[in-house]
Amino acid sequence: MAVFTETVTLENFEKQDPEYQDLVRRVLAIQADCEIGGPHLYVDDMLPGAPRKVDQLIVARTAAEEIDHFRKFSTIAGGVGVDTSYILSRPNQDRYLEAFRGQINTWENFSVFGMLIDRVGKYQLEEFQNCTFQPLAELIGHPSKVMEEEAGHIDYGTTRSWELLAQGDEAKQRVQEAVDSWYVMALDMFGRSESYRSARYMEWGLKRRTNEEARQQYIAEVNPLLTQMGLQIPDPLKGRKFL
Ligand SMILES: [Fe+2]
Ligand SMILES: [Fe+2]
Repeated sequence: MAVFTETVTLENFEKQDPEYQDLVRRVLAIQADCEIGGPHLYVDDMLPGAPRKVDQLIVARTAAEEIDHFRKFSTIAGGVGVDTSYILSRPNQDRYLEAFRGQINTWENFSVFGMLIDRVGKYQLEEFQNCTFQPLAELIGHPSKVMEEEAGHIDYGTTRSWELLAQGDEAKQRVQEAVDSWYVMALDMFGRSESYRSARYMEWGLKRRTNEEARQQYIAEVNPLLTQMGLQIPDPLKGRKFL
């Protein structure tokens, strides 16, 4: 099959091939889960425990933006018949991706999460830029409030990580430990290199890159940054679940 290039709107969605419909519904539910998954990881502990007013404000704003992203994906999902309201009250341990299954209660983890995991989020959203499903292409097209806010989360996480590193060896050790755990989960978030579904997304014009291409681009962006920060790059294979 040649790559599908038509523009699919909500109005003509149900006339599409069942596989196309399934893939769109699936990706919307996953994305909604990831958007709301962030606030559920860190709001409980990080919001009241913020060391400075500016940090508290940023945690609150980041959470508000992710909740708004959830609402936006949820609205599109609703338009294609997927009810995502259950995702709001889903326990963390049931989240789609491992990165969202725990609890964040330190600034090192909150900051590195922004620097590494929100950055994967950016890569995942970039997949849908100019995709064949118009509501999704429009949400993250140029300019896009969602993409701008995501860039803000990455930026804060990176700046805050630098700040922590400047506090001395102990803080640096804690940042390194946070990097060691999030880096592996970040690489896993791209999915398996030999993914049948990834190829189907590409053929339907829903995604632009293979999982492995996106992962390699991410590594090429993140590794030099970690080196510049004086941090060790974790073993990219150790502890990985999706190769
Ligand atoms: Fe988001
Ligand atoms: Fe984010």
